[in-house]
Amino acid sequence: MYTREGKMKAVFAFYLSCLLSFSYALSSNKIGINYGRLGDNLPSPYQSIELLTSMKVGHVKLYDANPEVLKLLSGTNLHVSIMVPNEQISAIASNQTQADQWVDQNVLAYYPTTKIRFVLVGNEVFSTNDLKLWLDLVPAMKNIKTSLTGHNVHNIKVGTPLAMDVLESTFPPSSGKFRSDIPIQVILSLMKFLNGTKSFFFIDAYTYFAWSDNPTNISLDSALLKDGNVTYVDTESGLNYTNLLDQMLDSVHFAMGKLGFDNVRIAISETGWPHAGDIDQTGANAYNAETYIRNLVRKVTSYPPIGTPAKPGIEIPTFIFSLYDENQKPGAGTERHWGLLNNNGRPIYEVDLTGTSPVNNDTHLTESINNNKPYKGKIWCVVASDASLAELEPALDFACRQGNGTCDELAPGKGCYEPVSVVDHASYAFSSYWAKFRSDGASCYFNGLAVQTITDPSKSWIMPIPKCVDLKMVLWILLLES
Ligand SMILES: *[C@@H]1O[C@H](CO)[C@@H](O)[C@H](O)[C@H]1NC(C)=O
Ligand SMILES: *[C@@H]1O[C@H](CO)[C@@H](O)[C@H](O)[C@H]1NC(C)=O
Ligand SMILES: *[C@@H]1O[C@H](CO)[C@@H](O)[C@H](O)[C@H]1NC(C)=O
Ligand SMILES: *[C@@H]1O[C@H](CO)[C@@H](O)[C@H](O)[C@H]1NC(C)=O
Ligand SMILES: *[C@@H]1O[C@H](CO)[C@@H](O)[C@H](O)[C@H]1NC(C)=O
Ligand SMILES: *[C@@H]1O[C@H](CO)[C@@H](O)[C@H](O)[C@H]1NC(C)=O
Ligand SMILES: *[C@@H]1O[C@H](CO)[C@@H](O)[C@H](O)[C@H]1NC(C)=O
Repeated sequence: MYTREGKMKAVFAFYLSCLLSFSYALSSNKIGINYGRLGDNLPSPYQSIELLTSMKVGHVKLYDANPEVLKLLSGTNLHVSIMVPNEQISAIASNQTQADQWVDQNVLAYYPTTKIRFVLVGNEVFSTNDLKLWLDLVPAMKNIKTSLTGHNVHNIKVGTPLAMDVLESTFPPSSGKFRSDIPIQVILSLMKFLNGTKSFFFIDAYTYFAWSDNPTNISLDSALLKDGNVTYVDTESGLNYTNLLDQMLDSVHFAMGKLGFDNVRIAISETGWPHAGDIDQTGANAYNAETYIRNLVRKVTSYPPIGTPAKPGIEIPTFIFSLYDENQKPGAGTERHWGLLNNNGRPIYEVDLTGTSPVNNDTHLTESINNNKPYKGKIWCVVASDASLAELEPALDFACRQGNGTCDELAPGKGCYEPVSVVDHASYAFSSYWAKFRSDGASCYFNGLAVQTITDPSKSWIMPIPKCVDLKMVLWILLLES
């Protein structure tokens, strides 16, 4: 119910209610999209907004309050969500004047011609380990709200998107519970604020991550929202689940309920499925991505709303992640492949964001890439063939600075010292680093300088390789056999 806030107070409420619920059915439960811009090859903001409009998106979420984008959005019918960056939270929390200035510059300068509807304060704040930031979050949200109210702006809600790691227990859904290392007073004041301002609990909910962490025990169909069969019965609550997203959302519902906040609604600030990724990233393919997005859109745009087993009939505002593939995102291969569109603005797979295409119109893609089971062979992490020499040296330094003996073998006199070349040393260091820190979340990427390969580098003439590979480097051969 994005669009209705505050309007029902009027004396005309009863008279208008038919009209309102009608227009709400038509416009409010449209899908939202995250417009992330971490790419150096993306269509311009102007083209992007045209694309969003032509895709019949209802809502767009920005990761900042970019003046050019906000100006271009004025006069469109797109509802807009803007973000206060994490770095500005503490200043805004400690000083109402700073909050007022932020609102002046980033909201009032564009509102109401730009239909700003949400100000999201920070991004996944409790996934950082910055305790001061945690403590400053709600005071900052309150100061922003105070500024808005002071200017008589009542149809902009203030929220904060959190990751699923805000819960320490998510399964079964009825066991949902907030993390105990986050001070309970912080969670309680957040909940009180959201409840008191009738805002949403924004959650980034990716069935992809839950499933790909444990593809043997979790059904892919339930992660792809192929509803139809009960896939899990929560014996504690007696609720039957047909998909993994409902389970994740209900774990949040149960966590909030345990603190007495049963009626705070959830919005999904990010969800999606990567259409490509690294060799060791199970299930990242366009077929799954198309299937997930289609099923998601159908589910969250249904009218009347479906809700979840614990909260049936409740609308769940949802933002797909993401509009584009963003080539400047670091990390594993999937990070750069969440887009609905490629960098020419063309769809990577076909998707109807209005959710009105018939249920039985199957995906257009065939299951050509079948990586739905974990890759069982060996994977090597080597210097990419197009890596620039100038960039390799700092990357090599970085890998070696991570310690834990990553580069011990590269010291003069040690087994991999020869041949003494940046490329050879970097190939060793990347593999060694990845092998050591992979379980802590390290990836084989190094800003595009490193790639995974299933071709044994010691047998390939394309890859630059240190001679020590096949002789001594047991380390850099990652065995993914389970
Ligand atoms: C609050 O911020 C304003 C504007 O930046 C500044 O002039 C003022 O000194 C600050 N007040 C405090 C108490 O820090
Ligand atoms: C939530 O807000 C409602 C008013 O909208 C209030 O009646 C209720 O007591 C609040 N719940 C809590 C736990 O504060
Ligand atoms: C999968 O389920 C089996 C049987 O219930 C269990 O023994 C195993 O630990 C589970 N694996 C993971 C990765 O959770
Ligand atoms: C439901 O289960 C049946 C029998 O196991 C299976 O044939 C069917 O494909 C399933 N439907 C869905 C949507 O998963
Ligand atoms: C859940 O499914 C079981 C059968 O699998 C059924 O007996 C039960 O009534 C269902 N519960 C609810 C709440 O729908
Ligand atoms: C179903 O998909 C096909 C493409 O495979 C498309 O041509 C057709 O228009 C779609 N049907 C409907 C009713 O959307
Ligand atoms: C790196 O070394 C530290 C300290 O010796 C140790 O606690 C940590 O587990 C090591 N990490 C890895 C990935 O080996």
